[in-house]
Amino acid sequence: MKHMPRRYRHYSVQFLHPWDVRQIARLERMVFLEPMPMAQVVIKYLSPRTRFLVVKDGSLIIAYFGYEVLGPYAHVLANVTHPLYRRQGLASFVLTEAAVSAERMGAKAFIGEVRFSNQPQLEVLKAIGWTRTAVIEPFFGNGEGAHIVMKVFH
Ligand SMILES: CC(C)(COP(=O)(O)OP(=O)(O)OC[C@H]1O[C@@H](n2cnc3c(N)ncnc32)[C@H](O)[C@@H]1OP(=O)(O)O)[C@@H](O)C(=O)NCCC(=O)NCCS
Repeated sequence: MKHMPRRYRHYSVQFLHPWDVRQIARLERMVFLEPMPMAQVVIKYLSPRTRFLVVKDGSLIIAYFGYEVLGPYAHVLANVTHPLYRRQGLASFVLTEAAVSAERMGAKAFIGEVRFSNQPQLEVLKAIGWTRTAVIEPFFGNGEGAHIVMKVFH
């Protein structure tokens, strides 16, 4: 992938392969209160509107960003960085790089929801130019509120 920075030269960046779908479900279970179940990851993976951009260290997925294009919006499914690979700029990288493919699929902006308690994600998004546009409370299954976040591509 031509936008891969030099500092990631020992990692590979690719769209998700079917044999790696299980790794996405495993990371979801590892980090989320309300993870996408394996069957749901498979359904999303098979949808022509969905893409998962992944970064791998050898065969291990160390970061991913999944999104689903719905008209002019690419809705964020999730982005995760493996706990052992955080603070290397990987989330910033996948979220930025994925705009290229989302735009090719017709989207004009990313839109997503971030838990009130998820300060790390809010910091990442702020650093790469996403904006908080609204609040919905409650939003998540456990009653927690969400910041609605967006990144317009141009
Ligand atoms: C949020 C998450 C994706 C960040 O991944 P990451 O690869 O470590 O993020 P980056 O390295 O790109 O961080 C970029 C910047 O964001 C900010 N940041 C990231 N994590 C932070 C934290 N825990 N606390 C404060 N600031 C943070 C920093 O400014 C950081 O730059 P710096 O390391 O030079 O200071 C990761 O913590 C994660 O997977 N969390 C669990 C899953 C999740 O909540 N996903 C988002 C909701 S879908």
